[in-house]
Amino acid sequence: MKKKVMFVFGTRPEAIKMAPVITELEKYPNKLKACIVVTGQHRHMLDQVLKIFKIKPDYDLKIMSKNQTLVDIINRTLRGLEKLLIKEKPDLLLVQGDTSTAFAAALLSFYYKIPVGHIEAGLRTFDKWRPFPEEVNRKLISTVADLSFAPTKTSVKNLLAEKVEKDSIYLTGNTVIDALFAVIKRKFNLKKVGVKLAPGKKIILVTMHRRETLGKQQRDMCGALARLARKYRDEIEIVLPVHKNPKVSSTVREVLQGIGNIQLIEPLDYEPFVHLMKASYLIITDSGGVQEEAPSLGVPVLVMREKTERPEAIKAGTVKLVGVSETGIFKAADNLLTDKKLYNKMSKAINPYGDGKAAKRIVKVINEKNFN
Ligand code: UD1
Ligand code: UDP
Repeated sequence: MKKKVMFVFGTRPEAIKMAPVITELEKYPNKLKACIVVTGQHRHMLDQVLKIFKIKPDYDLKIMSKNQTLVDIINRTLRGLEKLLIKEKPDLLLVQGDTSTAFAAALLSFYYKIPVGHIEAGLRTFDKWRPFPEEVNRKLISTVADLSFAPTKTSVKNLLAEKVEKDSIYLTGNTVIDALFAVIKRKFNLKKVGVKLAPGKKIILVTMHRRETLGKQQRDMCGALARLARKYRDEIEIVLPVHKNPKVSSTVREVLQGIGNIQLIEPLDYEPFVHLMKASYLIITDSGGVQEEAPSLGVPVLVMREKTERPEAIKAGTVKLVGVSETGIFKAADNLLTDKKLYNKMSKAINPYGDGKAAKRIVKVINEKNFN
């Protein structure tokens, strides 16, 4: 009997990190069958990833609404997915990370006594408000998960400290590195994406979107970028693919629109984004995925957050946590633009999050495990 594995995801980063697992699982058509469900928690940003990785969902719950609340996401996912669990009766349900889609799907799977596999398990900041609501989402998923695929030794340690059963934890690496390696080896001409790359100017790539910094703190982050752009008018070009969340984009445009050397652009497809990361002098971000990818590309990262669940690259010295104040962010970037020695120290390529074989390890476990 073939094992039916239901993948449930809804946002850009989940899709990027699930894609290598779907590709790997589809190599075993005699043993495994994938059933792909997208909630559509994101629309445009999810569809961009589905296109790049040629993923064709079996079901799309189409839950996204403008200014959706956490309750909207959970409620619509539970209602839509329940019918599919009853109809499809999967042997295993896979979720990724810490979004509200992942939490709702894991909880529902538990209610229906369907085993849950959690990809990217064990990340913790130990602060339930940062990031919000992700820290709590991932802890709750760990409570119901039957298989925990942990990306690093630190994440294994975190799970063991919470008394997650040792035999259910697998150290796999993060599938984001599989996705990154798959895309970086293809040639890509950045001119195609409409980013103006002025010769001799350093690119500073920026992303921001976290719920807990919406409003004043994001205004301060943008203030730091505006100061940087003005100080280094002829030396840097700041490129910011603006997140589709209207609460993010309104702040970003209010503070940064019209500054000559700041380019506010639409979210990029994964392939151009990866190549733009590689071409950047520095990345300033609050993203989880970008913190994992940039070290593998040897690009220094300043993280605009107070806490991170990804300490490995900080320990290795390629990523720095700089907080969310205008002055803190400005000073850290200013230092990297003036202190060449410091810059060189931070721009070493390392792979603390994976070796590109995480999906292989995950699918091997699924292949070998008996779920009855
Ligand atoms: C979600 C995840 C977060 C993840 C992030 C990745 C939760 C609670 N949050 O946050 O963990 O880091 O995705 O980006 O699960 N929108 C569009 N089109 C899109 C995507 C979003 O219009 O393609 C707009 C919608 O108005 C939506 C809003 O963005 O209401 C916010 O999206 P939502 O998924 O609720 O939160 P994110 O901040 O994106
Ligand atoms: N990303 C992308 N296009 C962009 C910005 C980011 O493809 O314009 C990718 C990035 O490489 C990473 C993922 O999206 O793999 C991160 O998504 P996001 O920052 O939205 O979420 P997080 O990782 O913080 O949950």
